[in-house]
Amino acid sequence: MFQANLLAGRTIFITGGGTGLGRSMALRFAGLGARVFLVGRREEPLRDTADVIQSRGGQAGYATADVRDFAAVEAASSAAEEAFGRVDTLVNNAAGNFIARTERLSPNAFNAVVSIVLHGTFHCTLAFGRRWIAAGQPGVVLNIATTYADTGSGFVVPSACAKAGVLAMTRSLAVEWARHRIRCVAIAPGPFPTEGAWSRLLPTKEFEERVLAAHPLKRFGRHDELADLAAYLVSPQADYINGECVVIDGAQWLRGAGQFSHLDELSDAVWEQLEFARERS
Ligand code: COA
Repeated sequence: MFQANLLAGRTIFITGGGTGLGRSMALRFAGLGARVFLVGRREEPLRDTADVIQSRGGQAGYATADVRDFAAVEAASSAAEEAFGRVDTLVNNAAGNFIARTERLSPNAFNAVVSIVLHGTFHCTLAFGRRWIAAGQPGVVLNIATTYADTGSGFVVPSACAKAGVLAMTRSLAVEWARHRIRCVAIAPGPFPTEGAWSRLLPTKEFEERVLAAHPLKRFGRHDELADLAAYLVSPQADYINGECVVIDGAQWLRGAGQFSHLDELSDAVWEQLEFARERS
């Protein structure tokens, strides 16, 4: 699908890059020639992902940092620059989420998720945005949002609030920083199996089966599908896409929004009965 050197010469800083979708994007970007710098709280998955990239002939570095801590983000940004020179692309992928009845949440639970998702995204965006503007150099920010950033969703209220903020940040900075040639885009993924998300959001087989049964395509997303979209969005070919959030969910959210979409649960036999009755009336 892509030229092998699509991202050659690029340096991409990915938060949450050691696990889940962050890891899948990192592997894809590196396979397309980018140098990748991975950031996360735990060293082991970062080291493991960097090792895999290096064993395939790619270039990867990492630093541990909690994106909630601006000083730690600054230190990781400097470490990335020391390792690879200028960073030109930031992927704000690190997230925190869990399902809960909102009335049972503590203020600190809300704060934990919002701090990781919204403040963390702002911290990284500020760290690199300042550098790029001061140096007069262009940049790309890719934010990982979610399909319920626009609609809201029960039982994940801290995440819905934080991701809505991330989407607003994407759209706001796309305009404000266009004059600095900094492009801001987002991806809104639907259900993509990852250990982190599945253990927190679909904790039982029954939950998983329900989500699958209600999905228009009756399948979850594949990591390579999301990684390919991310590679396109950060590439020069997407240079005129700015402030856009691309949904990749197999029409899952639309199925929930369409008033009659649940009629896909009706069997052919029921449809035939309805049609037969209509023809006779
Ligand atoms: N339901 C309700 N409250 C919860 C919770 C849950 N499932 N999990 C954590 N909390 C609360 C804690 O009780 C705590 O509040 P308190 O201090 O008032 O008791 C608060 O959230 C912070 O929890 P803590 O475990 O101390 O925070 P942390 O910073 O170590 O972890 C989380 C942050 C909670 C977001 C954790 O789930 C995490 O690290 N997630 C990262 C990975 C992830 O979520 N991936 C999925 C992405 S889709």
